[in-house]
Amino acid sequence: MSFDNILVKEKNNIATVTINRPTKLNALNKATIQELHRAFKALNKDKRVKVIIVTGSGEKAFVAGADIAEFSDFSVNEGEKLAAKGQKKLFDYVEQLNTPVIAAVNGFALGGGLELAMASHFRVASDNAKMGLPEVSLGVIPGYGGTQRLPQLVGKGIANEMIMTAGMIDATKALSIGLVNYVVPQEELLPLCEKLAGKISNNSSVAISYAIKAINAGFSSDTDGFKEEIKAFGNCFGTSDFEEGTTAFLEKRKAKFE
Ligand code: COA
Repeated sequence: MSFDNILVKEKNNIATVTINRPTKLNALNKATIQELHRAFKALNKDKRVKVIIVTGSGEKAFVAGADIAEFSDFSVNEGEKLAAKGQKKLFDYVEQLNTPVIAAVNGFALGGGLELAMASHFRVASDNAKMGLPEVSLGVIPGYGGTQRLPQLVGKGIANEMIMTAGMIDATKALSIGLVNYVVPQEELLPLCEKLAGKISNNSSVAISYAIKAINAGFSSDTDGFKEEIKAFGNCFGTSDFEEGTTAFLEKRKAKFE
C-alpha cells in the first residue's frame, strides 16, 4: 500500500496507522480521509492484523480537525455531502470495523480529530493531549459524528458544555470524564497501546468482532443491542475459535486462536 498522507506499519499482528501531515497538525483533508479509508479496509481484511492503532505524526497533534482550508467556501449542499461522505468512509467505517482500533491521542485532538478518536473503539492519551470540538467557534457544528459520540461517551451535559463553549480540555480532565482510558507521558503512549493491543490479540478475533457488532447495535436506533447480542452469542458457537477456546480451558492450556 502506498500513501502520501499516512504511514502504515505492521508488527506482531498490530498495525499502526500514523496520520502524517505534521506541518498542518495532521488536519484531515479529503485525500487523507480517502487514504485512511483504503488503509483501514485493507488492514481489516488482512488476517495477520489483530489490532489497529491510529495516531498522529510529531509530538504536537493527533489531528487538529478537518482541513478548514478545504471547506471554507462550501455551499449548504456541499457541506452536507462533506459530512455524509466523511461519516461513511471514515468515522462510521472505523467504528464498525471487525478489527479493534485504539486511538493513541498524542497531542491536539480537535474537531474531526476528536471525532476520529471517538469513532475508534477506545482512546489512550499522552499527558500533553488537548481535546475539544471547536466547530461552533467557526460557525458550524461537528459533522463527523461528534454530536452523537461525545454524549454517548461522556454524557449529555458535559458534551453540551464542550460543544457550546468550543473549549479544549486537557488529558487529565478527559480521563476523569471517561473520554480516554489512560493518560501517560508521550514516550509511553505507543508502548502502552501496543501492550493493550497485545492483550487483545491473544483473544479470539472472531469473538471480538461479534462483541463490537453487539456493542454498536445498542447505540444505533435501527437495531436492538440485546437481540444482536443473542444472535452474535449464538454465532460464536459455530466458530472454530469457540471450539479451541473451550477445549483449551478444559485441557488446562492456553488457547491458540487461528
Ligand atoms: N485545518 C487546516 N489547517 C490547520 C488546521 C485545520 N483544522 N489546524 C491547524 N492547521 C494548520 C495551520 O493553518 C498552520 O498552517 P500554516 O503554518 O501553513 O499557517 C499549521 O497547521 C500550524 O497551526 P498553527 O495554528 O500555526 O499552530 P498553533 O500551535 O498556533 O495552534 C491549534 C494550534 C490547534 C490551537 C490551531 O492550529 C487551531 O486552532 N487549529 C484549528 C482547530 C479547529 O478549529 N479544528 C476544527 C476544524 S472543524
